[in-house]
Parts: sequence; C-alpha cells; structure tokens
Amino acid sequence: MHLYLDTADIDQIRKGVKLGVVSGVTTNPSLVYKAGWTDYKSAVQEICSIVKGPVSVEVVSQEAKGMMEEARAIAKWSEHVVIKIPMCDAGLEAMSVLSKENIRVNVTLCFSLNQALLGALAGASYVSPFVGRLDDVGHDGMGLVAEIVSCFDRYGFGTQVIAASIRHPLHCIAAAKAGAHIATIPYGVLTQMVNHPLTTVGIARFLEDSQKAAGKG
Ligand code: E4P
Repeated sequence: MHLYLDTADIDQIRKGVKLGVVSGVTTNPSLVYKAGWTDYKSAVQEICSIVKGPVSVEVVSQEAKGMMEEARAIAKWSEHVVIKIPMCDAGLEAMSVLSKENIRVNVTLCFSLNQALLGALAGASYVSPFVGRLDDVGHDGMGLVAEIVSCFDRYGFGTQVIAASIRHPLHCIAAAKAGAHIATIPYGVLTQMVNHPLTTVGIARFLEDSQKAAGKG
C-alpha cells in the first residue's frame, strides 16, 4: 500500500517526503485555499518538484468541455500531474475522453460502488472513495473501499483505489486491511501513525540505561 499526503501545504509535504514514506499528494480546491495559495499553477509545480510522484489536481469546471480544456492545460504543468474529476454526468464524459488521450484521471467525490465501476469503465487510473464523509452520514466508508477493491480484482480492472477523506490512524489500518492500493492522509494523521506512547517511553528508558551503563547516570 502507498501513502499519499492529502494537503497543499508545502511545509507538510516537505516534511512528509523527508520521512521517505510519502509517494504522492492529493489536493483539492479547499486544500489549496486553506494553504493560502492564490496561484494554482505555481502551487502544483512546487508540489511536483518535491514529491516526484502522482499529484492529483482538481478541475473546477462544471461542463464536460470545460473540464477537458482545464485538464489538458493542467496536464502540461508537470509529468506528475493526475487530473481529479468528480463523478457526475459531465465528469464521466470528460474522464472517458481524457483517459483515451493518456491523461491520468482520479475519480473524486466517489461515494458508491456504482460510481467506482463507472470510473474504472471510463479508464480512470484511480478512484477515491471518501471514507470520512461517508462515515459522517452513517455509512460504512471503509466497507465501500473493500467492496471496490474486491470488484476491481474480480474483473481485472487496473484502476487503483485511493482511500480518501481519512480522519485518523484507525482509518489507515482499516484501509490496509481492506486492500486499498493507496491511502491519502492529512499530515497530522501521518505523525499519529509514527508515534506510540510505549515507543516514547521505551526510547527514554534505553537512553537512561545507556547513560547509567556509561557511568553518567
Ligand atoms: C481526496 O482526494 C480529498 O482531497 C480529501 O481526502 C477530502 O477529505 P475531506 O473529507 O477531509 O475534505
């Protein structure tokens, strides 16, 4: 399973990549706004220069034609760019055309197995079921991830499943168990995954004992 960072915050991306476990980034217009970027192109190109893996960038047009024009322009910004397109009539039409042009697509705002299947049939490289947002409305977000993984396996789709809208470390464990190819996580969740209170106590105790052994304790 791969880990991506779900952020447009450059410091967080730098720190995550430095740890050596982050192989991609997903952004969306809300994350770009939150990070304070006004120049979308510069933001994306800077992120791509740091992460050197798939970087998902979302289109904002509402019509298929506009989505395709936006996607073709964004795809030229960097070889690492993947175009995020929401699942809807216009999005489906756009992703079917773009996939045939070898522009990689990530189906975003995916909330059902039917939507994921349509994305795969349209040739998308990734689908992103939004786990946390489904949980918020009383649906089993990670159950959907497991269903999509199982269906894609059964029919041999090459589309990869990104567990998105991850809120806490338990989501990452569940995503791994559900067979998600990728989990895209906020930076805070990455740090929560690293740390464990018993590790912290253990490190302090080993340091203490090593100092005692050296006669410094
Ligand atoms: C995925 O690619 C989205 O950017 C993201 O996971 C949305 O998460 P949210 O529900 O926390 O906004």
